[in-house]
Amino acid sequence: MDDEAQNDVRGSYDRVADEYVSRIFDELRHKPLDCELLDRFATLISAGQLVCDLGCGPGQVGHYLQKRGVRVCGVDLSPEMITRARALNPNIDFTCADMRALPVSNSSWAGIVAFYAIVNLAATELESVFGEIQRALQPDGLLLLSFHIGDETVHLSDWWDIEVSIDFHFFRTEQVITALQAAGFNIEELKERLPYPDVEHQSRRAYILARKLTETTGGVLRHSAGNSDVFRLRRNTTVRYRTLLVRSRIAVRFLKHDFRAENSYHSCESISFGRRLAKKRERPEHLTNEL
Ligand SMILES: C[S@@+](CC[C@H](N)C(=O)[O-])C[C@H]1O[C@@H](n2cnc3c(N)ncnc32)[C@H](O)[C@@H]1O
Repeated sequence: MDDEAQNDVRGSYDRVADEYVSRIFDELRHKPLDCELLDRFATLISAGQLVCDLGCGPGQVGHYLQKRGVRVCGVDLSPEMITRARALNPNIDFTCADMRALPVSNSSWAGIVAFYAIVNLAATELESVFGEIQRALQPDGLLLLSFHIGDETVHLSDWWDIEVSIDFHFFRTEQVITALQAAGFNIEELKERLPYPDVEHQSRRAYILARKLTETTGGVLRHSAGNSDVFRLRRNTTVRYRTLLVRSRIAVRFLKHDFRAENSYHSCESISFGRRLAKKRERPEHLTNEL
């Protein structure tokens, strides 16, 4: 058996699509934390902005968000899942596509929800897929992601008495956070929970809310956090904290050394410039150039 036959993700979901609908489409009513996180996510999206339900399956997450006033579209690898999603959600636009190469231009979506969408990806693919998700998000766009916590890979050849061949990957939370940060996300929130009994597979779950950092110049990504701006540096970016001395006491601490980020965005400390700087700053681009 070749690799693809051993892990036939698309074909396996195609075969279980009907069963998936009957068992899972309604499940959010039994998952209070998921609903709470989706409710809050809906409030963070401005009216009329588009959110993608990525790895949507039959589209129950998109359905839930649409009921809360969010404009939603959906993407899934499995044509049979997409057929079910369209039938169940006639007012949502669904596309059959691979999240490793999303058929949208840069900055297309204000938000992405990806509930258990990464569970069939190998750990080695996470960073590049998050990079693709980051590309599809608008600056400051939000990603709400969930996955099973663990280290194992479970291979199924039988799923609900249907013959399949598919790997499910569990991830350590730190592993996912590291990949997200490396791809240019800031982690805004992490929640973990135990499985709901009698509702779902008995695995611990993680939910991460992450925001796309905004790239400015010289490998510097910026986002706002409260009264501060937070900067992260691309690999091999050297930063000299020269002119910040006069502007911010917080920056003084870093003045003594140039900072060289060695691995990627995530490996670099973020630098918070305090309230004083934020108030005085007139031209963020100018400051960024000074770095
Ligand atoms: C575990 S299901 C989750 C479905 C739904 N989000 C939910 O919460 O029930 C994973 C879904 O991701 C889709 N998927 C897996 N790999 C994908 C890929 N590379 N690109 C797009 N969708 C993918 C599968 O077809 C499947 O519908």
